[in-house]
Amino acid sequence: MRQWQDFMNLERWVDEMGNVHGRVEGANADAEALLIGSHLDTVVDAGMFDGSLGIISAVSALKAMHMTGKLGQLRRPVEVIAFSDEEGVRFQTTFLGSGAIAGILPATALKTTDKRGMALEDVLKENSLEVTEESLSKLKYDPTSVWGYVEVHIEQGPVLERFGYPLGVVKGIAGQTRLKVTVRGSQGHAGTVPMSMRQDPMTAAAELILTLESLCKNPEEYLSDGGQCGDDTVKSLSSSLVCTVGEISTWPSASNVIPGQVTYTVDIRAMDDTGREAVMYELSRRMYQICDKRSVSCNIERKHDAGAVACDAELSSQLKSAAYSAFKRMEGDIQGEVPVLMSGAGHDAMAMSHLAKVGMLFVRCRGGISHSPEEHVLDNDVWAASLAILSFLETL
Ligand code: GLV
Ligand code: MN
Ligand code: MN
Repeated sequence: MRQWQDFMNLERWVDEMGNVHGRVEGANADAEALLIGSHLDTVVDAGMFDGSLGIISAVSALKAMHMTGKLGQLRRPVEVIAFSDEEGVRFQTTFLGSGAIAGILPATALKTTDKRGMALEDVLKENSLEVTEESLSKLKYDPTSVWGYVEVHIEQGPVLERFGYPLGVVKGIAGQTRLKVTVRGSQGHAGTVPMSMRQDPMTAAAELILTLESLCKNPEEYLSDGGQCGDDTVKSLSSSLVCTVGEISTWPSASNVIPGQVTYTVDIRAMDDTGREAVMYELSRRMYQICDKRSVSCNIERKHDAGAVACDAELSSQLKSAAYSAFKRMEGDIQGEVPVLMSGAGHDAMAMSHLAKVGMLFVRCRGGISHSPEEHVLDNDVWAASLAILSFLETL
């Protein structure tokens, strides 16, 4: 990427949070800038498109403009930002890169530690990036200097493949909450403590996790009665609520020991923020009841919250036209409407929506599979995505 940036004479820098920027001023350096981005990091055992596709398609569109002598004709500055950490794998806090640019990353995030107890600020320092509370606050872009933010991303679901379309326009992104749950019981010998005398955090965690699954499969059953939320909210939850326990660890983790502690993560997503809050309330209530009943203690830490985001209507319609232009350039014509879909996955656009209007294009992926080495995007679809960004830039 650095070579491509140099080839195009982009102004290039890495900021204190490790975000990689490449900027071209265009004809009017005083105009508000278009920011295009996605993330450099990925999950453990991942594929190669989640995040990187958005960066490559943006940089390659700029490269095509450079090669045809059009880069200088851009009417506003265009900046591609490769965000350093969106997934939150190491520190369990997402949007470390885009959150800094959008000004929503609290300084306390710098003290967050990884599993080995290493603080984020120390990890950055190890990588020659000195970030302080003051320098972090300076990373925030002035909202009046930004026209909008656009992100291309692999769909990570099966909808576009089902429609037979390489690209789709995103109308909104689900809100999300991430929790760290710690269940503590009484550590003991697996052979000597009678079943009736145990305070076993492992079996408690199993019940807690199954309760989460049941609540998220049938939110109408759990939420309607108590009047926590209205019918529309419950309806929206029924079609969009998804809950996942993706990581679990036990202490001391030996086959002949009743564990003393079990820790696991919970990821909750829904299109409706009020509904997500109602789920959180009901879930916590039931979790504490179960822990009481089993005489274990449980601690629920909210590690991350992001509200649902609506993409900007005008930007979305421009991206839709850009997708049509890309199809025309590739195939001559295209049948039917470019699909418009919601995103269940989180994206840097969520953080960037605090700074400017946002728009997103999704790219079809094989079998809807992502966060897996099986993740795959056809070469032609990568081409379509880059051509769409090129068309978008040409009409900017
Ligand atoms: C990002 O990949 C997410 O967790 O949605
Ligand atoms: Mn991801
Ligand atoms: Mn991603």
